[in-house]
Amino acid sequence: MNLAKAIVFDLYGTLFDVHTVARRCDGYYPGRGLDMSVMWRQKQLEYTWLRTLMGQYIPFEDATRDALVYTCERLGLPLSEADRATLCEAYLELAPYPEVPAALRRLQATGLPLAILSNGSAFSIGRVVDGAGLRPHFSHLLSVESVGVFKPHGEVYELACRTLALPARQILFVSSNAWDAAGAAHFGFKVCWVNRNDSPFDELGTRPLMMIKQLDELPALLGG
Ligand code: 2OP
Repeated sequence: MNLAKAIVFDLYGTLFDVHTVARRCDGYYPGRGLDMSVMWRQKQLEYTWLRTLMGQYIPFEDATRDALVYTCERLGLPLSEADRATLCEAYLELAPYPEVPAALRRLQATGLPLAILSNGSAFSIGRVVDGAGLRPHFSHLLSVESVGVFKPHGEVYELACRTLALPARQILFVSSNAWDAAGAAHFGFKVCWVNRNDSPFDELGTRPLMMIKQLDELPALLGG
């Protein structure tokens, strides 16, 4: 396969379904789980972008907690300290999308190194990946914490180049998050956008090289 010499994946929303937490939220606030998890995720992302603009790094778990507090306040839902801790814990127990384990097995069989590059802390990435038994597929689990900024800052994508000792153009970056796919393409990666929901791509001046609907379409595109 000549397209790339390594494949680097985003974690949240790409390999793992962040809306796994909706069911847990529903247990606390019946009928509000999905609304809550959608706002929670959006705020979590905004907080990472805003903290980066403010030059103030905080661990991803803290952004997740702050976003949960905001969401409950915004939706008028009571949140005790114990519930807050339990719901944040749910973010460490996300489920992979159903096709992901088999797709990773096939991609690993191509012989290309596979890595994760995520806004999560090393602790969170490890918990989520280990929880699904997927760690053996990856040569590296890379967290933004060593650079102290969040994606789509270029320093994060640079971390993958440094670690894998490859130029950007030899890395295929796979993300479901259009803002992340756009950031990675702007940085110079080859990008595969996993467009799970038939969404338009973000208008940020770049386009992905490939678009698929689910991860299990990728091995065939790479000849695997
Ligand atoms: C990531 O895993 C937040 O989805 C984003 O980096």
